[in-house]
Amino acid sequence: MNVATSAVPNDLNAFWMPFTSNRQFKKSPRMFVAADGMYYTTSDGRQVLDGTAGLWCVNAGHKQPKIVEAVKNQIEELDYAPAFQMGHPKAFELANRLADLAPGDLNHVFYTNSGSESVETALKLAIAYHRAKGQGTRTRLIGRERGYHGVNFGGISVGGIVNNRRHFGSLLTGVDHLPHTHLPEKNAFSKGLPEHGADLADDLERIVALHGPETVAAVIVEPMAGSTGVLLPPKGYLQRLRDITRKHGILLIFDEVITAFGRLGAPFGADYFGVVPDMITTAKGLTNGIIPMGAVLVSDEIHDAFMNGPDYMIELFHGYTYSGNPMAAAAGLASLDVYKEQQLFERAAELAPYWQDALFSLKGLPHVTDIRCAGLIGAVELEPIANEPTRRAFSAFLKAYDKGSLIRTTGDIIAMSPPLIIEKHEIDQLIDTLGDVLKEID
Ligand SMILES: Cc1ncc(COP(=O)(O)O)c(C=O)c1O
Repeated sequence: MNVATSAVPNDLNAFWMPFTSNRQFKKSPRMFVAADGMYYTTSDGRQVLDGTAGLWCVNAGHKQPKIVEAVKNQIEELDYAPAFQMGHPKAFELANRLADLAPGDLNHVFYTNSGSESVETALKLAIAYHRAKGQGTRTRLIGRERGYHGVNFGGISVGGIVNNRRHFGSLLTGVDHLPHTHLPEKNAFSKGLPEHGADLADDLERIVALHGPETVAAVIVEPMAGSTGVLLPPKGYLQRLRDITRKHGILLIFDEVITAFGRLGAPFGADYFGVVPDMITTAKGLTNGIIPMGAVLVSDEIHDAFMNGPDYMIELFHGYTYSGNPMAAAAGLASLDVYKEQQLFERAAELAPYWQDALFSLKGLPHVTDIRCAGLIGAVELEPIANEPTRRAFSAFLKAYDKGSLIRTTGDIIAMSPPLIIEKHEIDQLIDTLGDVLKEID
């Protein structure tokens, strides 16, 4: 193996890597051994520009000193406190800070450890809320094709990624899906939100009429679908979903595991798109990716529906051993401090036009069929190689890595979401590398 042995385990076989082509990787491993700011260091001593903020999570850049310091201090002070029937101050402080940041009346926070767990929590809350309100028939959950809501059973059931569903049996019952909004024939190379497709939200009326509104608990969508290739909502689409859900007493959940914490140049996608849901699921940027943590932001109305009965009774039979873990809470507080002090959300908004121009400079290069972007997120869709789906984008990923830039691929779409601290010359570097890659791959 052509890697520095000191930094690499000598047998790669035991670790079954997630969402990875294990056999390809283990033949030719790509190992990061250090990171700082915008760059990773590989085990063979190269610097790789992080064009993806890790996995859409390291919004303030790597090894951010203030966040590292906060976690170090926390571990010296309080390593762990039981999450059930006991508390510690930072979990409450972070919840208050999140409630202040959140739009509308999303004033309550339920902690999880990941995006997938945030989704499961929100779906369970939706069903339990209706039951608490005496509407126990509302159990049906509506997701969307091409939606990604993590990998647990609820999330893959409402999610709309075929490969994430087809291997895992019958999944949750009582789930339906809206059509996706990816209309490249009408919307390709849109700058800003796509013009066409708001009417696809009206399909919700059809689904609700089919099942009866009294059976539907919630609709869950990513306000901007990230993992299936940066699919922006058509103009007016999210507002229509809001109007229809409200009309029928159905909860609207925005899965903002990617879009929360500045990715679009606003605190939440809900702010960017101007539509306030009943719950927002988060993770990733909540702690800058440093310590696993997720949070579901919940409206007053939902929270208050549970706060009845004798006060010694547990109101919600749900939670995790690590809900609000001290290290994660410390990382979350420090991340919010850094986002504010460095004005990173505003910075993402300011850089967005430069980012858009850079991405659109790739228009016309070989294989490029569409370019989409918002805030500091962008996608370049490629024409797939006939009968070999995903192969072209994967070779672009490998070549970009060899040339010193980390990008991500999903299907034949290249997705980029750099840390919000990226400088203009680094945007140029990333896009120039991608341009070279596109000219070189088959
Ligand atoms: C919208 C959305 N929901 C849920 C998840 C799952 O998060 P995790 O991998 O932390 O479980 C992701 C991860 O990318 C996501 O993008």
